[in-house]
Amino acid sequence: MQQHPTSNEICPEPRDLGRALCIITGASKGFGRTLAFQLSCLLKPRSVLMLVARTTEQLNRLKEDIITLYGRQNQLDVRCVQADLEKKEGVEKTVQAAKETSVSEMDHLLLINNAASLGDVSRFALTFTDPVEVNRYLALNVSGALSVTAGVLQALPRRLGLRRSVVNISSLCALKPFPSWVLYCTGKAARDMMFRVLAAEEPDVRVLSYAPGPLDTDMQLQARRSSGDLQLRRSFSSMFSEGQLLSCEESGAKLIKLLLDNDFQSGAHLDFYEL
Ligand SMILES: NC(=O)c1ccc[n+]([C@@H]2O[C@H](COP(=O)([O-])OP(=O)(O)OC[C@H]3O[C@@H](n4cnc5c(N)ncnc54)[C@H](OP(=O)(O)O)[C@@H]3O)[C@@H](O)[C@H]2O)c1
Repeated sequence: MQQHPTSNEICPEPRDLGRALCIITGASKGFGRTLAFQLSCLLKPRSVLMLVARTTEQLNRLKEDIITLYGRQNQLDVRCVQADLEKKEGVEKTVQAAKETSVSEMDHLLLINNAASLGDVSRFALTFTDPVEVNRYLALNVSGALSVTAGVLQALPRRLGLRRSVVNISSLCALKPFPSWVLYCTGKAARDMMFRVLAAEEPDVRVLSYAPGPLDTDMQLQARRSSGDLQLRRSFSSMFSEGQLLSCEESGAKLIKLLLDNDFQSGAHLDFYEL
C-alpha cells in the first residue's frame, strides 16, 4: 500500500513548469503515480494533468488524491484516460484526449513515457521462438511509446512560446545486457535510440531518457521473484532485503530537478546514480 507523501516532501521547490499539458503514461501505480503527485504541485493554475493507464479504479483514486492535496488551490484539471497502450485504440484514445485540451493556451507540453512492462523474465533468449509473443511485448514498450509521442507532438505542434518536453523512462537495461531479460533490455535499448532520433530530428523538443534506478515497485517485485537468471534474482532479492532499493519519491525528485533546470543535452540518457 503506497503512502501519500506530505506536501513538504513533494513540494519543496519554489520554481514551476509553467501552464502545462502534462501527460503521464503508466500513472496508475509505481513510479508514474509518484511522478503525478510530484508534478501536480509544479504546474501553474489551469494546467491539465492527464493520467493514462489501463486500470480505471486506480487512476480515479489517484485523481481524487491529487485534487484533495493540490487540485482546488491550483485549479488543476486532472483527467484520467483509460487506455491500453499495447493497442492502436489505446494510443489513439490518448492522443485524442490530448487534442481535446485547450492546447493553444498552454505554454508547456510535458509528456512522460513511463508505462512499460518487464515481459517474461523467467526464460532465456533461446526460448523466444514465437514472433507473435515478441511483437506483443514490443507493441507496448516500443511502438506504443513512439506512436503516443508522435501523435501528441503533432497535436501540439511547434509554436512560439510553447516549450515541448518528452521524457522516456529508461533503465540501465538500455545499455547493459541482463541475462533472462531479453525483451526488457531490447525494448529499453530501442526506446533510447528512438528518442535520440527524435532529439536529432526535432531540435525544439527537449528529449530526455531518464534511468530511475532500482525502484521499490511491483515491477521490482516481479524481477526478484521471476528472473530466470539465478544470480540476477539473488542480487535483486538482496537489494530488497538490505534496503538498497530507491523510493519512487527519491528518484522522482531527481527527474523533477532535471526538468526544472532544463539544461540537459536533448536526447541524453541520464541515470539516477550519475546525477
Ligand atoms: N521498478 C524498477 O526498478 C525500474 C527500474 C528502472 C526503470 N524502470 C522503469 O520505470 C517505469 C515505471 O516502472 P514501475 O516500476 O513503476 O512499474 P509498475 O509498478 O509495473 O507500473 C507500470 C505502469 O505501467 C502501466 N502499464 C502497464 N502496461 C500498460 C499498458 N498495456 N497500457 C497502459 N499502461 C500500462 C501500469 O498500469 P496498468 O496496469 O493500470 O495499465 C502501471 O501504471 C517503467 O518504464 C520501468 O521500465 C523501473
